[in-house]
Amino acid sequence: MLAKRIEQNRIDLQEGMAQEVLSRIEGENRRYFIETYGCQMNVRDSETIAGLLQRMGYLPAPSKEEANVILFNTCCVRDHAEKRLLANIGALKEQKEGDGSLIIGICGCMMQQADVAKKVMRRFPFVNFVFGTNALWRLPELMLGALGGERLILTEEEGFAICEGLPARRSNPFSAFVNITFGCDNFCSYCIVPYVRGRERSRALSEVVAEVRSLAEQGITEVTLLGQNVNSYGKGKDVDFADLLRAVNGVDGIRRIRYMSSHPKDLTPRLMAAIAENDKVCHHMHLPVQSGSTAILERMNRRYSRESYLNLVQDLRRTVPDIELTTDVIVGFPGETEADFQDTLSLMDQVGFAAAFTFKYSPRKGTRAAEAADQVPEALKKERLKRLNDLQAVKTTENNKKYLGHRGEVLVEGFDRRSETILFGKLDTFKMVYFPGDEGLLGTYQTVSVTECARNSLLGRME
Ligand code: 5AD
Ligand code: SF4
Repeated sequence: MLAKRIEQNRIDLQEGMAQEVLSRIEGENRRYFIETYGCQMNVRDSETIAGLLQRMGYLPAPSKEEANVILFNTCCVRDHAEKRLLANIGALKEQKEGDGSLIIGICGCMMQQADVAKKVMRRFPFVNFVFGTNALWRLPELMLGALGGERLILTEEEGFAICEGLPARRSNPFSAFVNITFGCDNFCSYCIVPYVRGRERSRALSEVVAEVRSLAEQGITEVTLLGQNVNSYGKGKDVDFADLLRAVNGVDGIRRIRYMSSHPKDLTPRLMAAIAENDKVCHHMHLPVQSGSTAILERMNRRYSRESYLNLVQDLRRTVPDIELTTDVIVGFPGETEADFQDTLSLMDQVGFAAAFTFKYSPRKGTRAAEAADQVPEALKKERLKRLNDLQAVKTTENNKKYLGHRGEVLVEGFDRRSETILFGKLDTFKMVYFPGDEGLLGTYQTVSVTECARNSLLGRME
């Protein structure tokens, strides 16, 4: 109770500062632009940032050049994100020189790393503030500081408490991301996430259901429950993810429930049953396997083996026969031999994923795997990635073929990038179907039949 009151006071204080910003900014100088990198968590965080800025009187800018506030929401999970980010920040120098009042802020996972945050502030004197993933709610304070000419760094927010009740500007009018857990406790040996998003915390079931209900009242029909590992939702509480699915399934107006990501080690028979029994829960699971070699999985600290993953898939398909699986795979993890890689290929062949996100291992400073002596040469990683992608392309096409003649319902989400008459929507199984139609259908559910299987996509027509 006391904790709740303290939290409320902290939020009220920020709200007061948001009002102060609102009273200070002039009519025209209030356009914001947010550039988001990385995963769905970051997309969802950017929606909160946009909601907070709108509460301070800001409106979206059509482009970076027309903005008075520019924010980069960063990611540091893979690749050479840091180099790219530094170049992108550098490119803003000219704009700032032309408009001294331009506010530039950098946030997200990369900024939760104190050394990188400091480097950004040091190298770019025109950046107004940086803040980490756990300080989103303090944006009014940062904005007020920036208007007053201060330069601030907020990275190490103690305690990592969940902040409820923040506003959000949702980017999609029919489908919404809903956070259910924050952070991660798994410490897979290659992964930076536990360090930049903190310990795993679950939102209260009542809070999640209340948010979903309010989204349904606003006309949203599809929700995607988000967490680094949704399957461990409720750890330390007396509810679990199966309970949450049941509760969300009961919300009127919601027609589809998606969720991601699932960790194989926490996929229980009870959860499989909940997926099968609750009619709104979609028949798709993103179940990252990372590697098909038990030895590599052990070094990755994944806490399952090749065999137990394959058994899970078998059980899942027995419980939910038409479920589609997608996955993440890393090639070239330290110590990965040709035989280990062959194990990955054979697992991919055996399971037949509908799609796979494939990555070359990239060392992250501060993680255990980055210290390993037996790093795999870049050229070999590249070669393995290609072989893996070639195999998956065949498997994707093979899997698509089963949809030929299939009839199913899609939620119409938008237009094909190259056409104003071709719409796309997803089947319950997350498969995308393209079909002719017009604008009036956006946001509706339509029954389509699949008439053609292109290499990566399904083409169809409305019934
Ligand atoms: N190198 C390569 N891929 C990584 N991932 C996470 N960390 C790394 C890394 N250091 C991949 C994993 C994870 C996905 C979100 O990103 O496959 O599931
Ligand atoms: Fe990273 Fe593993 Fe946590 Fe996923 S489960 S966020 S890969 S540590």
